[in-house]
Amino acid sequence: VGTEKINTDIVTLTRFLTEEQTKHKEATGDFTLLCHALQFSFKSIAYYIRRATLINLTGLAGSANVTGDDQKKLDVIGNDIFVAAMKSCAKVRMLVSEEEEEIIMFDDYPDAKYAVACDPIDGSSNLDAGVSVGTIFGIFRLAEGSKGTKEDLLLPGTSLVASGFTMYGASAQLVITMKGGNVNGFTLDNALGEFILTHPDMQMPKKRAIYSVNEGNSLYWEDPVKDYINTLKYPSEGEKPYSARYIGSMVADAYRTLLYGGIFAYPADKKSPKGKLRILYECAPMAMVFENAGGQAIDSHMKRMLEVVPEHIHDRSGIFLGSYDEVQKVIDVHKKYM
Ligand code: AHG
Ligand code: MN
Ligand code: MN
Ligand code: MN
Repeated sequence: VGTEKINTDIVTLTRFLTEEQTKHKEATGDFTLLCHALQFSFKSIAYYIRRATLINLTGLAGSANVTGDDQKKLDVIGNDIFVAAMKSCAKVRMLVSEEEEEIIMFDDYPDAKYAVACDPIDGSSNLDAGVSVGTIFGIFRLAEGSKGTKEDLLLPGTSLVASGFTMYGASAQLVITMKGGNVNGFTLDNALGEFILTHPDMQMPKKRAIYSVNEGNSLYWEDPVKDYINTLKYPSEGEKPYSARYIGSMVADAYRTLLYGGIFAYPADKKSPKGKLRILYECAPMAMVFENAGGQAIDSHMKRMLEVVPEHIHDRSGIFLGSYDEVQKVIDVHKKYM
């Protein structure tokens, strides 16, 4: 290839964050420093995940978390890496993690303005099989004069200032969005140790005949959900059935849905009346990414996901997440039952 083909003007995540910061005259740089700590935690978690089988880091830790999940060794390692990174950046007041029963208060930084919710390893049941897993994060800016209690974090997703995830798949893919902004995707270049902007301004397809749900829960689904899924599998005359894709790691299913289009669903059902996925560190951050990419995200009551307020830090919700028109179909079917 001729030298004219070499891209010498590479946009790293670091450069992207600097450019974002310069757009806000009043910015102090605190958010930028928080994001640098975030990206370090992704690089570090990626490193351990890729080596897990080699250094006996697969398998169970022998403990369970407050939501009843058996913790994998990497759940605990990922959590510890994430907590250390958030604490050491000195910009985070409090942190909610799937793997921590109680909210973590960083009392060394009483004036820190940000609160973070995270799922250190999402899809960890897939880890031992080498299937893609990820880290999901949501960043809230605390209201002026917040007392620094856990109630400060029982906020709807509309309060998020940024959210996203990193999927540890064939390569490490970071997707991040800011409130009112667009969605940008970065790929970790292991040689440089830098996330490189590879998917600027991600806009998801308005529709796509792919559905992603655990059909093993069909027995427990409410009638509107059964009805909706059947319209995809047994369409009216002349239409083709949807294709089914379910990985079982939300981050992987979400990333595919973001890129290809379609719908991801984890409905509340008779077995899990409040759904399985946790609002603060799974549903809300993903909902913001999908809305900013032109999609929709709703709960099992057809309410906009970003307006759902968690009752406690590990509160759960049903969720339908995907292309705008595909989520609209869910709403249209449910309307028949309202
Ligand atoms: P986590 O590994 O963080 O506990 O999350 C697991 C979640 C999510 O990643 C995935 O969409 C869902 O569990 C899969 O649940 P089922 O195995 O019940 O389908
Ligand atoms: Mn878990
Ligand atoms: Mn998860
Ligand atoms: Mn998890």
